Amino acid sequence: MTDLVSIARSLFAPGKGLLAADESVATATKRLASYGIGAGEEMRRQFRDLFLGAEGVEQYLSGIILFSETLLEKGNDKKLFPVSLAARGIAPGIKVDLGTEPMSESPEELITQGLLDLPQRLLEYKKQGGVFTKWRAVVRIDGNQLPTALSVHENAKRLATYAKEVQSAGLVPILEPEVLFAGNHSRQRAREVISETCHTLFSVLEEHSVDRASIILKTSMALSGADSGKKDTPVEVAEDTVAALMESVPSQIAGVVFLSGGQTPDQATDNLRAITERAHAMSAPWPLTFSYARALQEEALALWKGKEENIPAARVVFLERLAKVSAALHI
Ligand code: 13P
Repeated sequence: MTDLVSIARSLFAPGKGLLAADESVATATKRLASYGIGAGEEMRRQFRDLFLGAEGVEQYLSGIILFSETLLEKGNDKKLFPVSLAARGIAPGIKVDLGTEPMSESPEELITQGLLDLPQRLLEYKKQGGVFTKWRAVVRIDGNQLPTALSVHENAKRLATYAKEVQSAGLVPILEPEVLFAGNHSRQRAREVISETCHTLFSVLEEHSVDRASIILKTSMALSGADSGKKDTPVEVAEDTVAALMESVPSQIAGVVFLSGGQTPDQATDNLRAITERAHAMSAPWPLTFSYARALQEEALALWKGKEENIPAARVVFLERLAKVSAALHI
């Protein structure tokens, strides 16, 4: 096994998964504002420290995806975040895309930016302690009109270029084509779009000769759109999610991680448990785990409110949620 494959595989240690703590400045500002927390750079650092500095997270987390700013910051323990994570056996990862912008040929769809200076940035991130990376593409469903084949293909090409550059820099790539939960589509439509998106992605990866063994796929679950009024049961979600992945994702990749995408913490936990069971029953070939931002952080943020005196209580609920999500990985 190459180093990259073993790093990628180590992120799937039994009962462990990833925390996505890589909200950009704009997303972190919006997220904190929704809990009544005003944000500047120092408040964002405290926001990161709330989660990264919590004692015992290494029991549940194999890796944490960071935003570039956080790589250079210190926790309240005065250690650089990537250094203190690595010392606790948690692999530091880094979001390397630079966000999205409307696609000129199809302005209602988004294309991810960030390839231009990627090789230079990767060298810096590696020096700063990053061992794996993430690139997020966004796939919007609107009836049978969206996504267009053009946007899915263009995002796949960029994911492939990203993966190739990351591997040649000696880092593990996580490829995230996020099929958005927003919308009024059916779960069947989400399943179809996940499957088609992954199908396109893996054929473009093949054309670009990207080594599959060290890549990780980060995917959405197959859910009825958030505005559809339909509540899916965990068994329904699991059947469609596992079916979509089994028909479109090659067996050789290092593993599959799930995003929470706006589900409640309980939904994201229950659906992960059902997916784990279904994948086992269907003999799915890749290891699976979580890579959640909102579903892991939401309850703690609601308690924290940006106040020092609330840190212990907020960390207790964060650890409780991590324990539940980790337990969902055991069959
Ligand atoms: P959510 O779990 O909040 O969807 O975030 C995961 C992520 O990394 C999105 O890019």
